[in-house]
Amino acid sequence: MYYLTTAIDYTNGSPHIGHAYEKILSDILVRYQKLKGTETFFLTGVDQHGQKVQQSAEKEGIHPATYASKNTKKFKKLWEQVGLDYDGWAETTDDKHKACVGKILTKLKEEGQLYKKSHQGFYSVRQEQFLTDRDRNEQGEFGAEWGEVVELSEENWYFKLSDHAQWLQGFLAKTPDCIYPSSRQQEVINSLEKMHETDLCISRPKERLFWGIELPFDAEYVTYVWFDALINYLSFAGYLAEPDSDLPDFNQVWERPVHVIGKDILVPAHAIYWMAMLHALGFEDEHMPQFVVHGFWNAKGEKMSKSIGNIIDPKELADTYGVDALRYYLARDIHTGKDSDFIPDRFVSIFQTELANDLGNLCNRTLNMTVRFCEDKTLNTPSDYTLVELDQQLQASLAKTKEEYIKYMDTYQVALALGAINKHVKLCNSYAEANQPWALAKDKANTPQLHNCLYHIIESLAHIALLLSPVLPEACAKILQQLGAAELAQTTLADINWGLIQQPHTVNKPKPIFPRIQLPENEDPA
Ligand code: MSP
Repeated sequence: MYYLTTAIDYTNGSPHIGHAYEKILSDILVRYQKLKGTETFFLTGVDQHGQKVQQSAEKEGIHPATYASKNTKKFKKLWEQVGLDYDGWAETTDDKHKACVGKILTKLKEEGQLYKKSHQGFYSVRQEQFLTDRDRNEQGEFGAEWGEVVELSEENWYFKLSDHAQWLQGFLAKTPDCIYPSSRQQEVINSLEKMHETDLCISRPKERLFWGIELPFDAEYVTYVWFDALINYLSFAGYLAEPDSDLPDFNQVWERPVHVIGKDILVPAHAIYWMAMLHALGFEDEHMPQFVVHGFWNAKGEKMSKSIGNIIDPKELADTYGVDALRYYLARDIHTGKDSDFIPDRFVSIFQTELANDLGNLCNRTLNMTVRFCEDKTLNTPSDYTLVELDQQLQASLAKTKEEYIKYMDTYQVALALGAINKHVKLCNSYAEANQPWALAKDKANTPQLHNCLYHIIESLAHIALLLSPVLPEACAKILQQLGAAELAQTTLADINWGLIQQPHTVNKPKPIFPRIQLPENEDPA
């Protein structure tokens, strides 16, 4: 089964555009797999424990559970609004998750993977970790990125991370497709050196942090937030679950999962801690995850942050411009793995040009002409009609578009896949201009040519609606319905070939699917 997870979002705030991007990108990748006919399981959710949540709750004078649950609702609501079709929802305060974390800790302890020791050193409150001299900057100081740094002496539980360093080195060397983009895999390999020397502190004394999962063998401690959070990928897939639980069958779900995460949490959390944890639990190499590491959305070149006050709110965008505009922009204006700048004008102009003008217009006017010019709204090109060069060009372009789309989608390059589709849409518009069906309709003698022209565009639109459906599921279902081809929604990728629409074919009356965003005249960038 194709098992895809996103990072689980901290509930010490509201979802911003970065969270929304990752979830929408993941939703698109899963829907693409479904289009291929693959069985899928999509897990997303929220990370509710940890110091940040505890501190934010304290500031508001409420219990962290109340605080986390209040914010969790905002995430869930937004994901519903933007059309995420997930199968599993992870909340780290869920008893089933806590039970799984407990079982894993017990197992690792019994197998001698955990030990207790005392450590004195500098601790970053923001990053919730002890720092070493390697974390100092050139001036020998702990930089601003660590926030408040305090000196602490503390007994804690440790995981023998270093035991797994050699294995990880070998594994990455023989598994070049573990991390996308591959430049990130090299970054991980370069960072492995540190792993040979350090073990991972996996506990926090309750007196300092009570908002976490208690260690099953030492009630004075809770689990380090990352150790708890990473396990969500296992617990909500049914790992070590009770037989009567409502969780999925782990052995069916977990083949080679795909974890979609941001670039900030690859090293060390996922590529080192998580891989070592899985190895310690006895996972075989062929069951190790793959990572799709995406870049960041910035605002005017700057990192988005609450303190700068430049956070972009996806809910506001979806409310104002619609979910299609948001999903399309987040898929179109960033190259997976790279950063991108969120530019409000581009957001509007991409929607106006590629969806409203190019695709929306093509669909609307082609259907309108079919309704007006073809008897009974029915296309019926004579079977012996001879195609001309323009028709052949359009058919060849459509076949090439599908090929490119597959090549890009298979390698997570969604923006380029959308670019390939837009190119064909533009070609269809030029094809209409060249054939002038509105002029053909004036003379009955041109009826075969008229039908053939409209058919070529309608067939193209059926392909496009199917290929675009992972990105714009609702809009594409509407396009198919208006084309009179709603039953094609179940078509799998391999079957999207010329001839989806069989003539005679009756279409429905169109209604604009992507109405232009109305802006004051002088503010419309398109
Ligand atoms: N809770 C941890 C993840 C635990 S996964 C076992 C966490 N949460 S987070 O809320 O800070 O981030 C959630 C995801 O959003 C991460 O993958 C992170 O990289 C991503 N993003 C946060 N800001 C982002 C942007 N500005 N742009 C794109 N993605 C960003 O880390």
